Formats: sequence, C-alpha cells, structure tokens
Amino acid sequence: MKTKSIWGKPPTRLYKLINLAKEKWGTNFSACIVGCSDGKFLMPFARKKIKVTGYDIDDIALYGGYKDFPIVYKKVKYDYKPNFVSKIYKLESKRVYGIIDRLEKENLTKYATIEKRDFYRNVPDKKYNVVFTSCSLHYSANKDFSLKDKTIKLQDIVSKDGYLYIDYMMAIDEKDEINFPREKFYRKNEIINYFNSDWEIISFRENHSPSFEGAHVDCTKDHFHRFGYLLARRIK
Ligand SMILES: C[S@@+](CC[C@H](N)C(=O)[O-])C[C@H]1O[C@@H](n2cnc3c(N)ncnc32)[C@H](O)[C@@H]1O
Repeated sequence: MKTKSIWGKPPTRLYKLINLAKEKWGTNFSACIVGCSDGKFLMPFARKKIKVTGYDIDDIALYGGYKDFPIVYKKVKYDYKPNFVSKIYKLESKRVYGIIDRLEKENLTKYATIEKRDFYRNVPDKKYNVVFTSCSLHYSANKDFSLKDKTIKLQDIVSKDGYLYIDYMMAIDEKDEINFPREKFYRKNEIINYFNSDWEIISFRENHSPSFEGAHVDCTKDHFHRFGYLLARRIK
C-alpha cells in the first residue's frame, strides 16, 4: 500500500540526487535525512531499497497522531507584498501517519533507521554517503546555533566523496533582522562561505523573489518563502 506525506510529493531534485548517487554506488550506499518529518524525502530512498536514516524531533511526524489542517475551500495564489496579511482559516484536526507507520504500511521498515534526535544539538558520530535536509535549519528549536555552525554540523556527517544537499530558507528582506534573524535565514551567497576547499559545489541556486505558499499543516496562514538550494560533494 503506497502512503502519502502530509507535505506532498517529493520534488524531482530529490530523484536527481538519488540517481547521481546510484550512478556511483548502485543501491549500496547510506543516506541520511535530517528533519525527516513523516518521510517525504526518506520514503523514496527506502522504496529503492537504499539504507536510509532519518532524524526528527516532531513526535507526531515520527509516530503519528493528530495535526491541525487549514480548511481551504478555494486555493488562491497571492503576489508578494511586504505587508501581506493572510486570511484566517478554520482548522480541522486530522489523524496523520508518522514515518514509522508509513514504513510499516509499505513493508519498508528493514531499509530505514528512524531516531528521535535533536540533530543540531546532538550530532551523531556517523557518516553517510548522502545527506539531505529540507528547510530544517530555520526551526526555532535551532536558534541557539548560527547558520555557519548548523551548515558545518551537516557537513560533519558526510563521508568522503559523499553528497550534501540543503534546501534552505532565505531572508525575504535581507536588512530585516527581526522577522528574518541571521541564525535562521540565510543572506544572499552566505552559505557558499561555509564550504571550504574540502568541498566541490555541484549546484547552487538562490531565488531572488519570494514564492507564495498557501496555508498548510504546521503553518496555517498563507505565506511567502524565499528559497535557496545547494548540492555539494566532499572531495577531501
Ligand atoms: C519543514 S519540515 C520538512 C518538511 C518537508 N519535508 C518539506 O520540506 O516539504 C522540517 C523538519 O525538520 C525537523 N527539524 C527541525 N529541527 C530539527 C532538529 N534540530 N533535529 C531534527 N529534526 C529537526 C522538523 O521537526 C520538521 O519535521
């Protein structure tokens, strides 16, 4: 039985990364998803019989439970303006599967190791061939660490010749230190400074404009993000 993530379908860039790793190692490599939530980015590895580890701090995303979803009758896409005010949506509580349930339902438990762990506070003493994180760095749970610290903590678990992929959130207004504090939101080109000569940058893209995102679970108002994407390989 195929299950779904509350975060929707994985983007094609995840499959490109899996294929890049498969070209080098077949399915014989280790992957790690930092902030695996209910498995949006982890299940595709397990489905391809690749050994994957996931860390997260959210009990419901890990073990299942109830989450509040906004009731949106008609999806409307808004253009960005700095003082945008979202509609207030009514919420409905829905039962969601955690990643453990999803792995069991898809009979994939043997490919995955799931651990409740505050990754940035307690970095595991392990190395992986592929490390992936999507939008975990800006969480308030991680505000005690600078973005440089957090980026290096991710690098620390990548083995030699391995890949690190980071999807990250950027400040929409780079001068706004209140709404976009520096320990949560990267500034333009900032992340590149944290990759030394041990790394080859394979791809790097930062959006100039914010993109609209409709209200969703865990953020139940319409809002905007500005994203950055980086793929690097550890060469030393
Ligand atoms: C935005 S969600 C990922 C959502 C989804 N995968 C997506 O991008 O569409 C980021 C996940 O990172 C987790 N996370 C944030 N800080 C973490 C930490 N210090 N250790 C482990 N997980 C963390 C959160 O609990 C959350 O489940």
